[in-house]
Amino acid sequence: MAKPIRSFVCQGCGTIHPKWLGRCEGCGEWNSLVEEVSTPLPGSGRTIGAKTGASRRSGLEFTDLSAVAPPLARHGSGLSEFDRVCGGGLVPGSAILIGGDPGIGKSTLLLQVMGSMARAGHRTVYITGEESVEQVRMRALRLGYAESPVALAAETSLAEILPALESGEVPRIVVIDSIQTMFVDSLESAPGTVAQVRMSAQELIRLAKKRGFILVLVGHVTKEGAIAGPRVLEHMVDTVLYFEGDRGHQFRILRSVKNRFGPGDEIGVFAMTEGGLEEVANPSALFLSERINDISGSAVFAGMEGTRPLLVEIQALVAPGVPGSPRRAVVGWDSQRLAMVIAVLEARCGVSLAGKDIYLNVAGGLRINEPAADLAVAAALVSALSGVAVPAETVVFGEIGLAGEVRPVGQSEARLKEALRLGFTRAMIPSRKGKPSKKTSGSDQSLAITIQSLDLLAELVDYLQSE
Ligand code: TYD
Ligand code: MG
Repeated sequence: MAKPIRSFVCQGCGTIHPKWLGRCEGCGEWNSLVEEVSTPLPGSGRTIGAKTGASRRSGLEFTDLSAVAPPLARHGSGLSEFDRVCGGGLVPGSAILIGGDPGIGKSTLLLQVMGSMARAGHRTVYITGEESVEQVRMRALRLGYAESPVALAAETSLAEILPALESGEVPRIVVIDSIQTMFVDSLESAPGTVAQVRMSAQELIRLAKKRGFILVLVGHVTKEGAIAGPRVLEHMVDTVLYFEGDRGHQFRILRSVKNRFGPGDEIGVFAMTEGGLEEVANPSALFLSERINDISGSAVFAGMEGTRPLLVEIQALVAPGVPGSPRRAVVGWDSQRLAMVIAVLEARCGVSLAGKDIYLNVAGGLRINEPAADLAVAAALVSALSGVAVPAETVVFGEIGLAGEVRPVGQSEARLKEALRLGFTRAMIPSRKGKPSKKTSGSDQSLAITIQSLDLLAELVDYLQSE
């Protein structure tokens, strides 16, 4: 019997330490080391970091960089929003990791993908470590996929799963729901620990590459929002997707944060309904559907999510606060960024928000990360304070600098086109570079949208206080 190997693995970053430490030397996290014991498989000599004989002759063959690779074959999943986030379809032999809060709809989404791929004649395998076969069947029934020929198993031991995938007809796609429930016998640590997750993923990915099936791993998300345990997992897979959304809202956003086979930061929009997830082809219209015109404290932001323009409403409320401890509550945007916009409004534009409670909300449960939203946030805030509504049918975008200047942002054409498509007739945007600064409105003929270009935030403030 081989001697077990003891090591202490950081559950945050995956760094392996020979002895216990209070603080990980890899990422600096306190109390994150967990003892993990691994026993080398008899005869195989395969453990993490196992040494191989140096004198062995290598069978490695080198190939030419210049060799022309055939274009990547891709398979449609039957859900066009899902394909779009994966870069236009799923690549055989690739590994995809999907993270997201519990209950957000990961299993539902994947069951729909499996169901429609199976209907299209692909061999699909769904392995669940979280639910029973009965539960999955009930869900398939609700989703209308009860008769789809998806091969289903409830199993968590890789010793059972790997041989089943290794022989027989090659599946087109294999879903593992979730990777944190899987375990390898040769490791003594519990399922969900870094060593187990990493080893299980490694084995599955190796098999996916060898046999050429698409592998989808579901990953849990920690309180901090990272895929649980290992950041190492994100390096091992080809594509990392996050499924986000507010449970109180219908909308769900599937976002690619890494993709070796397509653009990163692409989004797909779904709505969670009685009958499962429905694709939303026109998300701007959906995010603006509950908007009330001519109300103060609201501005429509023309944003970009990946290559897709997206219009969303930003709402602000300014209320008298308790002196000394004003409340600042933000939903869907960065609170640091809000603090900066407030500081610029106060220091550069003479707007007094001190001592006031401020609430900011991105309507519809979307989360915005773009600095281009600064100007729309400022417009909503000033409008909330002055009671003057932002003019009807106006979109706003632009970054704000600390000197109070309005800075240009990328892809303004695409933003304006989306605004025009949805019937907006005006846009408050940064002055374009190289053009003389104009404070009057001008009309951009190619777009037939009235542009009000701004150099300074103070111009917007004046405008919204004097209407
Ligand atoms: P689920 O896919 O189980 O989430 P995850 O795998 O990410 O944990 O999603 C379950 C939620 O979705 C649950 O709150 C119920 C809801 N749901 C619907 O609203 N409609 C449906 O048709 C289905 C199947 C689920
Ligand atoms: Mg699930």
